[in-house]
This record gives sequence, C-alpha cells and structure tokens, in this order.
Amino acid sequence: MQVNGFSKLSKQAKIDWLLQTYFKNNTDARRVLEQYWHDDADLQELHDGFIENTLTNFYLPYAVAPNFLINGKIYTIPMAIEESSVVAAASKAAKFWLDKGGFKSEVIDTEKLGHIHFTYTGSTAELIQFFRQNRDKILQSVAGMQANMQKRGGGVKDINLIDKTGAMWDYYQIEFQFDTADAMGANFINSVLEEAAESLQDLAQKQLTGKLEIIMRILSNYTPDCRVKASVSCPVDVLQTANLSGEAYARKFAQAIQIAEVEPYRAVTHNKGIMNGVDAVVIATGNDFRAVEANAHAYAGRNGQYTSLSHAEIKNGRLHYWLDMPLAVGTVGGITAIHPLVRFSLQLLQNPSAKDLMQIIAASGLAQNFAAVNSLITDGIQKGHMKMHLNNLLSFLKATPEERQKAEKYFADKKVSFRALKDLLGRD
Ligand code: MEV
Repeated sequence: MQVNGFSKLSKQAKIDWLLQTYFKNNTDARRVLEQYWHDDADLQELHDGFIENTLTNFYLPYAVAPNFLINGKIYTIPMAIEESSVVAAASKAAKFWLDKGGFKSEVIDTEKLGHIHFTYTGSTAELIQFFRQNRDKILQSVAGMQANMQKRGGGVKDINLIDKTGAMWDYYQIEFQFDTADAMGANFINSVLEEAAESLQDLAQKQLTGKLEIIMRILSNYTPDCRVKASVSCPVDVLQTANLSGEAYARKFAQAIQIAEVEPYRAVTHNKGIMNGVDAVVIATGNDFRAVEANAHAYAGRNGQYTSLSHAEIKNGRLHYWLDMPLAVGTVGGITAIHPLVRFSLQLLQNPSAKDLMQIIAASGLAQNFAAVNSLITDGIQKGHMKMHLNNLLSFLKATPEERQKAEKYFADKKVSFRALKDLLGRD
C-alpha cells in the first residue's frame, strides 16, 4: 500500500496507519509495539531520534563476557547479540586462555581512505600537471575543517591522483589518506571529501581544457591499512583432552584452520563465527557493524579467493594462533556519547582509545573462533548450542518453573531436541 508524507505523521498516526493497513486494526499488534516503549519519555525520545519513522524499540540482549586477559589487562567485555551460545562461548574461551598468557593484541596501522571519484575528458598528462599545481590549494580548502581533528592527532595525511582509466573510460580518483584518531571518522572523512571536491571542481573549471565531472565523494569502508592482530599461544601439551593428546589436538586444530584457509565454503562459516565475537562488541560499543562486516569480508577475499581471517601453526611444541583483520571503529563521535548503554560499555572497558577498542574486539573475535573450532573438532557444536537453545524452546512452550527444572535435569547429559523436549513435557 502506497503512502505519502509518512515521515511527517506523528508516531501515533504512523502506528494507526500501519495497523489499519496491515493488521486489520488488531489491538494485539498495537500492544506488541507499545510494550517496548520506554517509561522514561526523555529516553524514548532520544531513541526515537536515532532514525526516521521510529515506532518502538527493538531489544537485543546485552551481556558481558568476563576474564578477557588482553595485553596483560583483564577486561569484562560487553556484547549485544541475539544468538544464544555466543557469550557463553566467548566467556569459556577467555577463561581458557586466562592462565596461558591471555591474548596479545596489536594495532598494525590506522590509515583510512576516502576518494573523490571523477571523470576527465582531457589528457592524463594535463590532469597530472594540474594536480601537482593545485594539490596544496585543495588541501588548503579543507584546512578549517581539520583543525579539531588535528588537535586530536588526526587529519588528512596525504592526497594522491590515481589514474583508473585502465579500469573505466575517463575515470580518475583523488585518494585521501586519513588518520581519524579516536573517531571512526565517517562523518569527518565525508565532509572533508565533499568540501575538497567543490574546490577541485572550481579549480578545474578555471584551469583545465577538458571536462572534469565529479561523480561522487565518499569514504572507503575497506581499510586494509587500518588493521589489528590478536594472538594466543601455548605449549601443545596443555591442550590435551579426554580423548586427544595435546599434540593430536593441536594438529587437528591447525588442520581445521587450514581447511578454512583453503576452502571458501568453510571459510565463510569460520569467519561468520569470528564475526559473532566481533559484531557483538561492535554493537555494544555503538559502532557500525555493517561497515565492519563489509571490511572484514573484502579483506578475506583480497587475493581473489575468500579465505580465513584466522591462522594457526605449530612450532617448537607450541600452538600459535592468530586473527588478522581490518577494523575501523571509534570511541568518540557517532552515538558513543549519546546512547546511554554505549556510554556504559565504554566505561566498562575503561574508556578505551580507538586502538584499544580494536585490540579488544579482535581478541573477542579470536576467542569466539577458538570456541567454535574447539567444539567442531571435539564434541560438535550442537551440544553447547542446543543447551543454550533449550531456554528459548522452554520460553516458546511457555514452560512453568517446574517444567524448566525437569527439562534442565533431563537434558543435562543428553542432546537437546525440540521433539524430545515436547515429549518430556507432554506437549504435541
Ligand atoms: C555459529 O554462529 C558459528 C559457527 O558455525 C562458526 C564455525 O563454524 O566456526 C559455530
């Protein structure tokens, strides 16, 4: 059903329209939306303002995974995620590595890129000459916008003209390299690019013989040079399980990682598990998980075949295991100062810099990957998964406290299945 001027309607009028149009004015549908409204009107208004056409709030569980030893400091990591087993897995992995030296995390670089994409119909030589002569003027045009960022140690680091005519007719870029300090920097980068593009256009009109047309100006969410590495290492002996010697476990573990390195079908699932740990912290700290996801997967496919973001090797009787991924996140700007839970998360993490946060998120991603691969090469993931899922199934069946107790006891040493649960509770 088409509607005009929807965004201008009040929240109530939007809901009325929606219910009339799609729910036959069902009062239960109205209740579903209204039950998530916050009692605190100011807080609700704050959330309403984050996006357009807000009707209600969509809750995600907010949890913490304690005992993360990262670079010698213990963190309790906030995680916002709907998948039942993720926090339990992260906590278990953190505990496992706690007495084995914990996670070492290092930021490899923090360079971000943005581009003015344009076409030019004249000669490349003329454009190169023009860029040389006007480079400083273009930079000058954004000097005022950079003042604050420069005070925080960031700003435009360099600009370069790139000839892309081999890939597309008349296509060139001016590539901007940025350091955005503790901000993720999307707004800063895009503002700088838009201002610089205007200056480029003005200068081109006055000086160039051909036609220069700005196509677009936008940051790149691909940041292979804004990257972090998290690692763990331990003697293989301590990896011994009931059924595997430490050496056999380490070999199987390294082979599982190698399979993800060579087999894209496995790599996607493997990296998805890493992103369980990454995204949950990215969301809890108010960062943009779509940007983080796009970035990680582009990096995983950088050599033409999608591959694992984590790696492992056994050397001199030790398992070395690490995650290397691009990550552009911020601890200032965006909603970091506005969303009360995001502020809480950042305080919980002891007010990290963007670099600290990169290191924490990478450790969470590696922990999650460790937990997944550990389950996969031993008991399988369904055991742990279904235990956590039991709670959801019990809620779905509206189980009484007595039934919950009965089910938890019954499934303590058995595989959980919906059918078995229903049989146990006598439901059809
Ligand atoms: C489930 O959300 C994630 C896993 O499938 C990851 C993996 O297979 O490595 C368990």
